[in-house]
Amino acid sequence: MTRQLFVTTALPYANGHFHIGHIMEYIQADIWVRFQRMQGHQVHFCGADDAHGAPIMIAAEKVGKTPQAFVADIAAGRKPYLDGFHISFDNWHSTDGAENHVLAQDIYRALRAAGLIAVRSVEQFFDPAKGMFLPDRFIKGECPKCGAKDQYGDSCEVCGAVYSPTELKNPFSALSGATPVLKSSEHYFFSLSDPRCVAFLEAWTQESGKLQPEVLNKIKEWFTKDEQGQGGLGDWDISRDAPYFGIEIPDAPGKYFYVWLDAPIGYLASLKNYFDKGGPKAQYGESRSFEDFMADPSVEQVHFIGKDITYFHTLFWPAMLHFSGRKVPNNVFVHGFMTVNNGEKMSKSRGTGLDPLKYLKLGMNPEWLRYYIAAKLNAHVEDVDFNPEDFSSRVNADLVGKYINIASRAAGFLAKRFGGKLSSDLGVDGMSLLETLRAHRHTITELFEARDYGKALREIMALADRVNEYVDANKPWELAKKEGAEQVLQDVCSVCIEAFRLLTIYLKPVLPALAANVEAFLQIAPLDFTSTDQLLGAHTIGTYSHLMQRVDPKLLDALFEPPTAPKLVPGGEELAPEIKIDDFTKVDLRVAKILKAEHVEGSDKLLRLTLDVGEGSPRNVFSGIKSAYKPEDLIGKLTVMVANLAPRKMKFGISEGMVLAASHADEKTHPGIFVLEPFPGAQPGMRIR
Ligand code: MSP
Ligand code: ZN
Repeated sequence: MTRQLFVTTALPYANGHFHIGHIMEYIQADIWVRFQRMQGHQVHFCGADDAHGAPIMIAAEKVGKTPQAFVADIAAGRKPYLDGFHISFDNWHSTDGAENHVLAQDIYRALRAAGLIAVRSVEQFFDPAKGMFLPDRFIKGECPKCGAKDQYGDSCEVCGAVYSPTELKNPFSALSGATPVLKSSEHYFFSLSDPRCVAFLEAWTQESGKLQPEVLNKIKEWFTKDEQGQGGLGDWDISRDAPYFGIEIPDAPGKYFYVWLDAPIGYLASLKNYFDKGGPKAQYGESRSFEDFMADPSVEQVHFIGKDITYFHTLFWPAMLHFSGRKVPNNVFVHGFMTVNNGEKMSKSRGTGLDPLKYLKLGMNPEWLRYYIAAKLNAHVEDVDFNPEDFSSRVNADLVGKYINIASRAAGFLAKRFGGKLSSDLGVDGMSLLETLRAHRHTITELFEARDYGKALREIMALADRVNEYVDANKPWELAKKEGAEQVLQDVCSVCIEAFRLLTIYLKPVLPALAANVEAFLQIAPLDFTSTDQLLGAHTIGTYSHLMQRVDPKLLDALFEPPTAPKLVPGGEELAPEIKIDDFTKVDLRVAKILKAEHVEGSDKLLRLTLDVGEGSPRNVFSGIKSAYKPEDLIGKLTVMVANLAPRKMKFGISEGMVLAASHADEKTHPGIFVLEPFPGAQPGMRIR
């Protein structure tokens, strides 16, 4: 049966570029999606930018852009990452798209009609200077617990206390510095504590196979009330007051949906946008509308998300969908966080450690990272660490050493000796090896289905080991030298190529670009999982060219080298290399009085200066300042000279020093020479230090 899958990844905030955490999530989802497509299923893989919210509005204001222009600029930068890492989204949209405005308002109206929207007055901090209510993150003050200064309105970074902004001592607005005032306004709530919601969510979350066991445990905690009857599901504040970048709440002037209300609806908006553009029709001949498609109970809705946003996706989101009469998610697959160098959890906005774009710009192979991340992923909510040594060894020893090697060991002989022609009689050992490889298809597909990619790759590499054992046992390099072993050589090499093809099928969800190159090399149609049913037989393959390089450790060094701040180039000219103070004191600079200034016959650049440096007898210095000064304007003035410069013999006489003057690096575009003059009071002979 062909499955119809609607697959999403979390919608990234449009206030920054992708970091490695985002890429990890996309790689996880993309492998699953490609695997499903290779199984012959229909997949609509959708993403979008999460455009709304106060932080984006404020960030846009800071750089003098409209929020729309601000998020458009971020959106414009998405493609190099997605293409670069072979992430095969069918559609990418924005939560500020027209579809999302309509859908969010429709869903809200349905929830209101179901009696699940309540209005209550809420007292909050208001910035009188900015004329707006302040989000928690934009209120600062002293921690109510430990007194630490300059803490955010929701928690203290010093002692870890969690509190509400109104508890801060000496609060101030991070936007204007003004002291916020308490002001009440009407807020709209989604009544999650309504018994209908609680009953629905208890049933929905428990449905088997929907959620991972550790996610279920977490949800149980969220449902549970303590002895005082506190905790449990609380109502959810879904409104924000203007000014806000978001979607207006119907029949509530000046009120907007809180960003997290319309963000997941953005999944539907992206799919609708894709349907309206005719994508599913072009791809699968799908003739239904978005609405009809989503009304089909056999359509599966699957969300890939990180652990930090579980609450929104397993409670708010299914409840919103259910009570507005829509399809609820079939699965929410939660992953852990990516860390780098066993480290610091990456900050959501800063994302440190491994810059994905730098990775690509260094020319590092995106499929090394896909392979590495896949090798470390399982179906649990576990963090994944990027470790450079581990990365090199897995790529070099496993991927290249075990898998790529099989092709490179066999292809040369086939090309040189047999015109690329494979034999169809593969011998008992060969056939039994290939049979083993084919027999693992079921196990491997089940592991991909269950997102247990690490285990799938271990299975595949164990199969590659078997193939290499076969190669070592049959030694094609010896057969090649042996008289009368032509046929055996062709058979053995053909087994290798058949095996390589089978392994490529299994690796294709992880290594799509490599697989495409293998298909070209083998001169075969695109591989899918049913391709294991047949062998190539008497087929002619193309010429082998190297399929994948090993990781060069120098690349990893470069990847983790901290970015050097671009040097400011003073006046357009590169700064000279750094010197020590002794280097400077070697240069003896003195105040000099210009006693005489004269034209030099035969030179259109130089003036001859007679300088008093307090030595008793004056010095003779030639200076290239004729274009800028008339001699009479210089006489009697003070200037600065290099007094210990070796005398230089020139066409016109000996120059006994050098007068200091400023000029631009490019005199053609910026003409002008400016002789230095000390402040009044300096005396000839004084040293400059
Ligand atoms: N905008 C919300 C999601 C709205 S979904 C309707 C958001 N955006 S985010 O940009 O902060 O995060 C997007 C996704 O990246 C989330 O699934 C989040 O868990 C994931 N990750 C963010 N940092 C991560 C790591 N360091 N590692 C792995 N995934 C991480 O939350
Ligand atoms: Zn504190």
